[in-house]
Amino acid sequence: MTVLSARAVSLVLPALEAAVRAPSPHNTQPWRFEVSGDRIDVLLDPDRVLPVADPDGREARLSCGAAILNLQLALRAAGHASAVHLLPDRTRPTHLATVWLRGPCQVTPEDRAFARAITFRRSNRRPFTDRPVPMWIRHALVRAASLEGASLALLDHPAVLDGLANLLRHAEHLQSEDPAFQAELRRWTSENRHRDDGVPASAGGPRQAPGSLLALRAYPGAERRQERPYEREPLVTVLSSFTDTPLAQLRTGQAMQRVLLTGTTAGVSASFLAQPVEVGSTREALRELLGGQAYPQVVLRFGYGFAAPATPRRRPELVMRPRRPQAEGATR
Ligand SMILES: Cc1cc2nc3c(=O)[nH]c(=O)nc-3n(C[C@H](O)[C@H](O)[C@H](O)COP(=O)(O)O)c2cc1C
Repeated sequence: MTVLSARAVSLVLPALEAAVRAPSPHNTQPWRFEVSGDRIDVLLDPDRVLPVADPDGREARLSCGAAILNLQLALRAAGHASAVHLLPDRTRPTHLATVWLRGPCQVTPEDRAFARAITFRRSNRRPFTDRPVPMWIRHALVRAASLEGASLALLDHPAVLDGLANLLRHAEHLQSEDPAFQAELRRWTSENRHRDDGVPASAGGPRQAPGSLLALRAYPGAERRQERPYEREPLVTVLSSFTDTPLAQLRTGQAMQRVLLTGTTAGVSASFLAQPVEVGSTREALRELLGGQAYPQVVLRFGYGFAAPATPRRRPELVMRPRRPQAEGATR
C-alpha cells in the first residue's frame, strides 16, 4: 500500500483528483503518476492505449495533455504555481511530463472558476437546443486554443460543415463495419466491466432521428433508446496542431482541455466526434478540407444542452505511486 506524506495528501491528492477528471477515448484513463518531493511525473499507461482506435497513442497523449492542464489548474487554484516540462526524457517516450511544484501564487477568480469547471465538465451526447452559441463564446473558445499553441477552426461555412458531416458519416460507417473496432468498443462499454472506467450506458445519448446532420458514435444499446431530433445548426469545431509529433499532441491535449473548460465556464456543453480523425483516410481528407496547413486532432460539437451524467474514474490512489529513487536526476 502507498504511504503518502502529509503534503501529498493535502496538496497533491486533490490535484490528482482533478487530473483524472480529464476526458479520454472510451474513458480509458491512460495515465499514471509518480510523486516525490516537489515533482509529479505523468506517465502514459500503454496497457490503456486503444490498439484499434488509437494504435499510435495519439488520443492517449491528447488525454494526458488534458490531465496535465487539470493538474496545473488545480494546483494554481490551491495557491501553488507549477512549471511543466513535457517529454523530459527522450529515451523514455512514456514519460510524458514532469510537473514541478513552485512557490505560492496569487489565485484569481478565473483560476477558481476553471478549477470548479473541471469537476462539472462532461461529454454531453444528448441533443442541444437550437439556441446559437454567441459570438463572444466562439471567440473565447478560439482564444483558449491559441493560448496553448493550437488552432480551433469553427466550421460556420455550410459547405465546410457539410464536408465534415460527410467524412463523419463515412468514418462512422467504416468503424461500425470493423469487427475489431466494435469488439474494442464493447469491451469499454460493457456493463460487466469494473465500475471505475469505460463509458456507462447512462452517458449515451438518445437514438438520432433520421436526417440528423452529425453521425454521433453509436454506442452499444443505442438502438434500444428513444429516437430524438438533434439541433439543426450545430456548432462544430476542429482543433488542430501545426505538427503531428508526440509533443504537439500533448500540447493540443492541453488546448483541448482549455477549450472544453472555457465552454463549461460559459455554460455551453460539448461532445466529441472523433471518428474522422481516427480513420487515416478521413483524417487526411479533413486536413485538406481545412486548407492542408494543420493536423486535425479532435472534432468537438458545442451547444446549449441539458445536464449529462458524470462518468466514473479510478481514484488517484490507484493511479499514483511514490517515485523510485533510482529514477531521480531529470533536469529542472
Ligand atoms: C481523444 C478523445 C476522443 C473521444 N472520442 C469520442 C467520440 O468519438 N464519441 C464520443 O461520444 N465521445 C468521445 N470521447 C469522449 C470520452 O468517451 C469521454 O471523455 C469519457 O467517456 C469520459 O467522460 P467525460 O468526458 O464525460 O468525463 C473522446 C474523448 C477523447 C479525449
